Amino acid sequence: MAMAQWFLLLCIFFISASASNVQTKVTDNPADELVAVLNSNRTGNKLSSLYSNPGLACLALQYIKAYQGECSAVGGPDAKKPAESEFAETFAPNCDVKASSLAQITGRFLACQSKYAEPSEAFNDILIRNSKSLDILNSKNHTEVGTAVSGSDGGGPYFWCVLFSNGKPKSSFVTEGGEPKVTRPGCFSGANDQCNGANTLSRIIHLWPIALGSFVALLYAL
Ligand SMILES: *[C@@H]1O[C@H](CO)[C@@H](O)[C@H](O)[C@H]1NC(C)=O
Ligand SMILES: *[C@@H]1O[C@H](CO)[C@@H](O)[C@H](O)[C@H]1NC(C)=O
Repeated sequence: MAMAQWFLLLCIFFISASASNVQTKVTDNPADELVAVLNSNRTGNKLSSLYSNPGLACLALQYIKAYQGECSAVGGPDAKKPAESEFAETFAPNCDVKASSLAQITGRFLACQSKYAEPSEAFNDILIRNSKSLDILNSKNHTEVGTAVSGSDGGGPYFWCVLFSNGKPKSSFVTEGGEPKVTRPGCFSGANDQCNGANTLSRIIHLWPIALGSFVALLYAL
């Protein structure tokens, strides 16, 4: 009996040790973790791993901010989408991304939920929910990806945005100099930016009133 318990404990120890080894490959940043989950799903399906482009990811965070925390504008009957011209006129300048380096967006996911979800849960349960979203995920047209995760003022709702592009890695979505501008709240992928904890993901830690229940909205498009 005692022996069996030790064995179990050792197993748990080894499992958690190997899990933390895997995690050291990504920054402490839920957006980087989302890219890792997404790329391992693609490579699991024998598709190419996508380049994690920080400039594209910064635009993904701007895309979230365009919704101003309004979850009902993401999906459903009142759904809205930022105009395509916003990329060049607003998102790129806010990120210091050169307008001349913008490339085509070949797919996008945007989801919003009242509760926070870990990146793998956000990927499996929120973002990839039907065959249409699987088609976008598995498209051979993409060469690079950028993701962003953000809470809103007061904690939730939480937004996840994934942008895919067919641009040339390293020469598309490039900044005027150095890394794209980091703005809070919110985290974006590819910038080696540690992004976790109280003031990063959403400005104020706040528990969503349970009475409101939980909701989720999803937009996916090419
Ligand atoms: C990729 O993700 C989808 C959606 O969660 C899942 O159904 C599928 O099994 C995953 N594939 C691989 C190879 O991980
Ligand atoms: C890939 O790109 C082609 C040409 O632009 C387009 O017709 C097709 O729908 C795209 N496929 C996917 C899965 O996005």
